[in-house]
Amino acid sequence: MLTTFTLNGKSTTVDAPTDMPLLWVLRDVLNFTGAKYGCGTGQCGACTVHLRGRAVRSCQTPLANVAGAAVVTIEGLSPDGSHPLQKAWEKLDVPECGYCQAGQIMAAAALLSTRPKPTDAEIDAAMNTNLCRCGTYIRIRQGIHEAVRTESK
Ligand code: FES
Ligand code: FES
Repeated sequence: MLTTFTLNGKSTTVDAPTDMPLLWVLRDVLNFTGAKYGCGTGQCGACTVHLRGRAVRSCQTPLANVAGAAVVTIEGLSPDGSHPLQKAWEKLDVPECGYCQAGQIMAAAALLSTRPKPTDAEIDAAMNTNLCRCGTYIRIRQGIHEAVRTESK
């Protein structure tokens, strides 16, 4: 069945079962591999993308739910890796293995879109279900603050 949605600003039509999770559609059908498969059960956040401007777990989002909607993946967050979070991540060398980081950045970007200057508590509340096996949590928080600083200059 054909489903059309907007992916990173571009109208996209896929021929896939409507109950296929968006993560599979992105990675296996459309070859957008930035969102990662971590757990497949909504527990880790590695697959986080934006749907209608909000952070969602793409492993738990059936294709049917994105019909006609706007989806943004890490590939579409900025044209050239210049989003303030991406620059902050690079400056502070946030990732270790990197596996969780696309999900972390997408969750952080969704947070900043509603809370441009989040407190530590707000960051923790928004980010605490995005897991990192490498334990980069402190740098993630620093990276979010750094992005806010560079944005407000
Ligand atoms: S892969 Fe989706 S939450 Fe873990
Ligand atoms: S950087 Fe390795 S899992 Fe987060």
